[in-house]
Amino acid sequence: MRRNLVVGNWKMKINHQSAQDLIDGLIEGLPSEDADIAVCPPYLYIPEVSQRLANTAIELGAQNVATHQEGAYTGEIAAVMLKDFNCKYAIVGHSERRANYADTDTTVAQRFQQAIDADLIPVLAVGELLEQRENGTTFEVVAKQLNAVLEFSGIDSFKNAVIAYEPVWAIGTGLTASAEQAQEVHLFIRQLLAEKNQQIAEKIQILYGGSVKPQNAEALFAMPDIDGALVGGDSLSADSFLKIYSSFQK
Ligand code: 13P
Repeated sequence: MRRNLVVGNWKMKINHQSAQDLIDGLIEGLPSEDADIAVCPPYLYIPEVSQRLANTAIELGAQNVATHQEGAYTGEIAAVMLKDFNCKYAIVGHSERRANYADTDTTVAQRFQQAIDADLIPVLAVGELLEQRENGTTFEVVAKQLNAVLEFSGIDSFKNAVIAYEPVWAIGTGLTASAEQAQEVHLFIRQLLAEKNQQIAEKIQILYGGSVKPQNAEALFAMPDIDGALVGGDSLSADSFLKIYSSFQK
């Protein structure tokens, strides 16, 4: 039985004060659900959020991680540094980084491997553009993104990984994939992994991301291969994020 998980990606949409207020709201309102919850602040706020989250059930993650372990990489943050501040997760391959910061399948695979090496859980984000969905190449695109990491790191590294299916056209647009559209891709991802290792495929958490809200979370989470959500905008309100977190029925 897979545990469910919701992860909040705060992106670059928060400041010192709003981060404090949000964490206070989450800690105060956190219900005792049988599911996991994590937040990914901007790097700069990780130390203070880490302190506030000590001894709570809320886990910490980062929005990215460097492609190398250490060295002359100005401006980068290494996986071991995130570990120093009790991060459990690191998002890798978010579409905003693929589109705006030249992340490629190769650099995403390197980031994934760095996370694994440091005992962080990578949250590997994959997903198609609108034109790719309209062209009917969604499965092909997702398979290519996934295979690049599988070839680089091997199936065994997925024992300690999470996958987030985030159709790019649904991110921040208010357009959510329907529960059926998302389920179809989640199942495809699980089957692709099952070709290499059935057990790992059955165990891995596959999250959906893209305009997840309290209004659509329940329908998404009712799908058999959707194990939670990677939430952007609605993770910035404690009330909305906790409503999403409370939407698991299974
Ligand atoms: P939104 O929930 O704002 O669409 O963002 C999704 C996302 O990109 C999470 O990583």
